[in-house]
Amino acid sequence: MKNVIILGSTGSIGTQTLEVIEKLDNFNVLALACGNNISLLKEQIKKFNPKYVCIENPEHKNNIKQDFPNIKVLSGSDGLLELASIKECDIFVVATSGIVSVKAVLKAIENKKTIALANKETLVMAGDIVMKKAKENNVNIIPIDSEHSAILQCMQTQDNKLAQRLWITASGGPFLNNTREEMENFNAKDALNHPRWAMGKKITIDCATLVNKGLEVIEAHHLYNFDYNNIKVVIHPQSIVHSFVEFIDGSFLAQMGVPSMHIPIQYALTYPERFNGIKTNSFNIYNQNLQFLEPDFKKFPLLKLTIECGKQGGIMPVVLNAANEVAVYKFIKGEINFLDIEKIIFKEIEKTTNIKNPTLDEIFALDEDIRRRLA
Ligand SMILES: NC(=O)c1ccc[n+]([C@@H]2O[C@H](COP(=O)([O-])OP(=O)(O)OC[C@H]3O[C@@H](n4cnc5c(N)ncnc54)[C@H](OP(=O)(O)O)[C@@H]3O)[C@@H](O)[C@H]2O)c1
Repeated sequence: MKNVIILGSTGSIGTQTLEVIEKLDNFNVLALACGNNISLLKEQIKKFNPKYVCIENPEHKNNIKQDFPNIKVLSGSDGLLELASIKECDIFVVATSGIVSVKAVLKAIENKKTIALANKETLVMAGDIVMKKAKENNVNIIPIDSEHSAILQCMQTQDNKLAQRLWITASGGPFLNNTREEMENFNAKDALNHPRWAMGKKITIDCATLVNKGLEVIEAHHLYNFDYNNIKVVIHPQSIVHSFVEFIDGSFLAQMGVPSMHIPIQYALTYPERFNGIKTNSFNIYNQNLQFLEPDFKKFPLLKLTIECGKQGGIMPVVLNAANEVAVYKFIKGEINFLDIEKIIFKEIEKTTNIKNPTLDEIFALDEDIRRRLA
């Protein structure tokens, strides 16, 4: 029996992780953590009977304790750290949005827990620190993101040294075929209408700007220790190929399937095995007309900027990530136009002088400063 802790259990990845666990025989939900969706958390407690839960706001603790007196209820970032220290945990699933879980991930690594990582910010902001700690502690960080899972699956039977290039696929988002003039007038409802994937709001807007793909390039750099020059983005509107690995003899291996997060989540939980648990509908392989296109960096300048920030390293990805998050939520609230997202980010990047090898405290202080200034 594997004991699983899920941070972000009420979100898009968190709820799908529970759907996967329901179909697997040997997985037990040990703890759940969420932000403020207490009603959904209570439903999850009834169904999965965890020993611990953690919520963002301590004021809701009594509300949960009244209904579930036998559960240990924790709160806040200290609560997440406590979850990261529970001995019985085997797999620590990180499906929170934002940066709230970064310290908990480091603590779980110190405690030698396998990390199933969906959260992008962990590697984008602190990739060097997290990967170094994982190596020192001999801990596996298994990606949940479909592209990185695809790469892992393609490398599974190969010596990683034989891989020479990673090709990360991108659907191109809802505005792939629109002009920049048209983009100017799109609102959050248009941008949230992703053609292929149903996800949380923040990541869906990041797909429309293609920042998400740039963040995935940064994640791939850290996860697979690949030079940025050997990580390529390819637009693949059908989202059937979830990524390719190109090997030294010119062979490409691809992982394919209908767009569904259930498969990469299940693979992260059962890695390195493949289980007969949850299944997607198999796609009709005939007449798919799969396309693979070069990204248009002029139309989507944030894709180039995000990758450039990754290449520069230091604090640049931290600045980009924080400015992007503030701008995206302003756009969702209708306070700014779609193309204002890039104006805010470019302005912030242009005035930044890079600092190499920031400490975790410096990263958090900088992140907080940018969010406060741009709010
Ligand atoms: N969705 C996808 O298909 C997908 C694919 C690849 C990668 N990712 C990445 O996975 C992460 C999660 O994405 P998502 O789409 O699942 O996001 P989401 O639907 O917005 O869910 C976020 C989760 O984080 C929880 N949360 C927020 N603040 C918290 C806090 N302070 N303490 C504890 N929990 C907190 C939320 O709780 P409440 O709802 O209760 O407030 C919710 O459960 C992101 O980094 C995203 O980029 C997502």
